Amino acid sequence: MLNVKDLRAGYGQVEALRSVDMEVKKGEIVCLIGNNGAGKTTTLMSISGIVKQRSGTILFNGENIIGLPPHKIVAKGISQVPEGRRIFPTLTVEENLRTGAFLKPKLPKEKYEAVYDLFPRLKERRRQLGGSMSGGEQQMLAIGRAIINDPLLLMLDEPSLGLAPQIIDSIFDAIVTLRNGGLTVLLIEQNANLALEISDRAYVMELGRVALSGHSQELTNNNSIQEIYLGRKGTPQPEDDRVNT
Ligand SMILES: Nc1ncnc2c1ncn2[C@@H]1O[C@H](COP(=O)(O)OP(=O)(O)OP(=O)(O)O)[C@@H](O)[C@H]1O
Ligand SMILES: [Mg+2]
Repeated sequence: MLNVKDLRAGYGQVEALRSVDMEVKKGEIVCLIGNNGAGKTTTLMSISGIVKQRSGTILFNGENIIGLPPHKIVAKGISQVPEGRRIFPTLTVEENLRTGAFLKPKLPKEKYEAVYDLFPRLKERRRQLGGSMSGGEQQMLAIGRAIINDPLLLMLDEPSLGLAPQIIDSIFDAIVTLRNGGLTVLLIEQNANLALEISDRAYVMELGRVALSGHSQELTNNNSIQEIYLGRKGTPQPEDDRVNT
C-alpha cells in the first residue's frame, strides 16, 4: 500500500532523514521505533506532505504522492494523528470530529456513531470542549477525528505519550479493532515493548536511517533490540560471562 524509497528530508541545515526505505502492506500494523531525534516524526510528516522531502519516492497504492499538498494526500486516504494530539481546545468534541471530514460537505450521523462505538467516552462528552478533556480522552478524540473520513492508511505519532497504562491499553485495543475492520496502520511508538506487541512488523530508526527491520516477533527475540530498546539483557550466550551472575 505504502512504499517509501530513498526518502531524504530535513530542516535548513539539518538532515533529518538520510535515505529511508520502508513499506506498509494492506492490513498490517507497522511500527516505527527509535530514540528521540531519530527521524520518526519527520518520516510521517513527509508522507503526509507537511514536511517537503529533498528526494526519493513515496508510492501510495502505486501512485507517487511526493509533492502533493497535504489536503490532496488526505483525499487519497492517508490520515494522521499528530504528535501531541493537536485537537482544537475551544471546539466541542463533536465539532472537533467534524474538522476531520473537512473534505466532505455533509457528514452522515453514522460516521459519528462509528467513532462513538469505538470510544463510548466521546459520546458522553460530545458537547464538552476539547480542551477540557483528559489526555487520554484527547487522544481518543484525535484518533476519532483522523478516522471519521474513512482513511485507508492511519498514521499515529506516539499516541501513548504521557498516558496511564490503562488508557494506553484501551487506545491500543482500539487500534487493533480498527485494523481488524480493514484499516492499515503506521504507528510511531517509543516504547518498543508496546510497539512490538501490537505490530506485525517494525522498523528501528537511528539517526535518520532505518537501522533494522523485520517481523515484530523476530525483533522481540533479537538480542541487541532487547538490550537497547526493551531494557532487558539479551538471551545469555555461552561465552557471555553474565550467564552465571
Ligand atoms: N522544525 C524543525 N526544525 C529543525 N530541525 C528539526 C525540526 N523538527 C525536527 N528537527 C530535527 O530533525 C531530526 C529528526 O526529528 P524528528 O522529530 O523526526 O525525530 P523523532 O524520531 O520523531 O524524535 P522524538 O522521539 O523526539 O519525537 C532531529 O535532529 C530534530 O532535531
Ligand atoms: Mg517524534
